[in-house]
Amino acid sequence: MKNILVTGGAGFIGTNFVYYWLAKYPEDHIIVLDALTYAGNRANLFEAEKNPKFKFIHGNILDQPLVESLLKNHKIDTLVHFAAESHVDRSIHGPDEFINTNIVGTHTLLKAAKKVWLDESPKNHRFHHISTDEVYGSLKPKDSPFKEITPYTPNSPYAASKASSDHLVRAYHETYGLQTSISNCSNNYGPYQFPEKLIPLVIINIINGKPLPVYGDGRQIRDWLHVDDHNLGVDLILNRGKVGETYNIGGNNEWTNIDIVKTICNLIHERYPNGTSAHSNHPQTLITHVKDRLGHDRRYAINAEKISSELGYSPAESFETGIRKTLEWFLDKEDWWRRIMDGSYSNWIAVNYDDPK
Ligand code: NAD
Ligand code: TYD
Repeated sequence: MKNILVTGGAGFIGTNFVYYWLAKYPEDHIIVLDALTYAGNRANLFEAEKNPKFKFIHGNILDQPLVESLLKNHKIDTLVHFAAESHVDRSIHGPDEFINTNIVGTHTLLKAAKKVWLDESPKNHRFHHISTDEVYGSLKPKDSPFKEITPYTPNSPYAASKASSDHLVRAYHETYGLQTSISNCSNNYGPYQFPEKLIPLVIINIINGKPLPVYGDGRQIRDWLHVDDHNLGVDLILNRGKVGETYNIGGNNEWTNIDIVKTICNLIHERYPNGTSAHSNHPQTLITHVKDRLGHDRRYAINAEKISSELGYSPAESFETGIRKTLEWFLDKEDWWRRIMDGSYSNWIAVNYDDPK
């Protein structure tokens, strides 16, 4: 049985991780620590909060005394660190929060974990750090996919901040013996993804009859993985992965952005052949090429051979089924994303909880 502290559990991947874990390991306790930034939505965890094995703490990973008290009071043995500023575009316009949360915040967690788990009351533990393939930089069309030993070449402030945090996690293992692991995953998609990211943004803009902004020529390539296949990878690493190791997680599923956008257009057209109330033509007519992102990485691709061969990892969801399910989720959960789009999600949280944002 594990007592797990999940940072950033009210965000996209953290929320999915909480539901994945509660369903698969009903004996375990989960504490979520989340600052509820614009990307955190406590309403995501509404169902989880009915479970006595689950607890939500509204707080910041930069608050070391709080983190130490959570580790001690809840007898935490496993920390899964999702909390981060995660949107590349925001990091280009305002890198400061990325440095604070992603670098200083991760270091604060490491200091708390070292103090409680190594210095004060030594015990078996695991500090698992969630990272990204973006730390490896950009690939040329014929380059081999990223391996765990690929040199770090982060290009955006977001990627640089995640790279720094990865190095700190590694250093705490090498120097102090903190029992760490790191996973570097490719682009995720699925339920609860914040609508600033490509896939939910495109779905929602089609429903609203708004332009679909494609940066530059749209020929940039990403490897897309369903969020529950990311969680499956983290599960295997927590249960069977080696301490001190890094594992890449990916879907072997490279797509150009423009093809992703066209695929979603076609799926929505298939479902609503006469259009939506906001737009009667084929959704592809909404595609609009806009100015490219500064320093836009051309291609990411993951070699997931290590996690496959060492831990038996294999994604369960194909892109064809995963993208259809994700589309259905967004069509079904219109209330969820409309509350985000109009900003009323923070009020909803204030009305529904004693501990408002
Ligand atoms: P997200 O932006 O949806 O959620 C981030 C969560 O962290 C939010 O709930 C937010 O409130 C919380 N948070 C932010 N700053 C905090 C702080 N200082 N203290 C406590 N909580 C704080 O992000 P996501 O897409 O779910 O990504 C989660 C993690 O996975 C990140 O570390 C990200 O780098 C990594 N990752 C994401 C992807 C992807 O495709 N989304 C791919 C690979 C890796
Ligand atoms: P995004 O979902 O922001 O993830 P990341 O930058 O972490 O890969 O973007 C995925 C790709 O889609 C990326 O190459 C940028 C591109 N993109 C667009 O073309 N238009 C958009 O409106 C957005 C949000 C992203």
